[in-house]
Amino acid sequence: MPAKIYLQSPPFGDFRAMPARGDGVALLKWITSFPGNPARGLPTVMGVICLSDAETGAPLMLLDARAVTALRTGAVAAVATHALAAEHARTVGIIGCGLHGAWTARCLAAAGYSAGVCSDPREEEATALAGELGWSAGSREDAAACDIVCCVTPGSQAVIDESDLREGMHLNMLGADGPGKAEATVGAVAACTLFCDEWHQASHGGELTGAISGGLVTRAQVTELGAVLAGEAPGRAGPGSMTLFDSTGLAIQDLAVARAVYDAWQAGAVQAQEISL
Ligand SMILES: NC(=O)c1ccc[n+]([C@@H]2O[C@H](COP(=O)([O-])OP(=O)(O)OC[C@H]3O[C@@H](n4cnc5c(N)ncnc54)[C@H](O)[C@@H]3O)[C@@H](O)[C@H]2O)c1
Repeated sequence: MPAKIYLQSPPFGDFRAMPARGDGVALLKWITSFPGNPARGLPTVMGVICLSDAETGAPLMLLDARAVTALRTGAVAAVATHALAAEHARTVGIIGCGLHGAWTARCLAAAGYSAGVCSDPREEEATALAGELGWSAGSREDAAACDIVCCVTPGSQAVIDESDLREGMHLNMLGADGPGKAEATVGAVAACTLFCDEWHQASHGGELTGAISGGLVTRAQVTELGAVLAGEAPGRAGPGSMTLFDSTGLAIQDLAVARAVYDAWQAGAVQAQEISL
């Protein structure tokens, strides 16, 4: 998986090209971030994924990049929580209940976590998501008091500071996926045991970036989630430690979902429109 490539389209936004190969397939995700789009009645994020056969190079499937991204981002939060949260952790706070916050909540619910609190200044979004899952809508403080706290806001202001930290809590920081974004104060980040999906991305355009550039956190203090999953590095030190996972989003995660969709289509479990090129 090479690093993602950014193509600026000023003053509107940027395109990202994200390639990856594995499990017999290769993929290119071509996806946008155009912050002014909602004012035009369009989504901020749009794009397409091309899935190809890694043996012949033949294109196999085109997928809606938004749907795949939302599902894989939520799924990664559930995987990180399984790997890093304290054993007794059950309740989930969702801060930011837009597209990716909603899928994070759905994936954590599917993974067995419950009694969630959904918080968003757009109260109707929080109430609708809570209603769908049988959770409750509440304040930022109510969500931050849960065992597992997931932040999925645009990352333009901190929604977690040091006063929110409690022994044993686990944080999934999903909203800060590019330079200049952060959802926690650098003090809060530096006070946690730190994990990320990929060091290069997290240190340059993730939740960890501010604490690293401020000299509060070094490479040696951050563990990649993959190393924990592969048994190469320890996860949480004990029930009292405070863990923080910085998700910036990887093409290899999209590949896992795209491969599963392709397999489901082959098995007849999902329908797709067929086109000949
Ligand atoms: N980590 C990843 O892999 C990954 C993947 C996709 C998107 N993202 C990022 O996740 C963020 C959210 O994306 P989205 O598509 O869900 O956006 P969205 O606009 O659909 O949702 C964002 C939500 O956050 C809410 N919000 C704004 N300020 C808030 C605050 N202070 N407290 C609580 N809620 C607040 C908004 O009202 C909105 O409902 C973006 O920054 C996006 O770039 C990350």
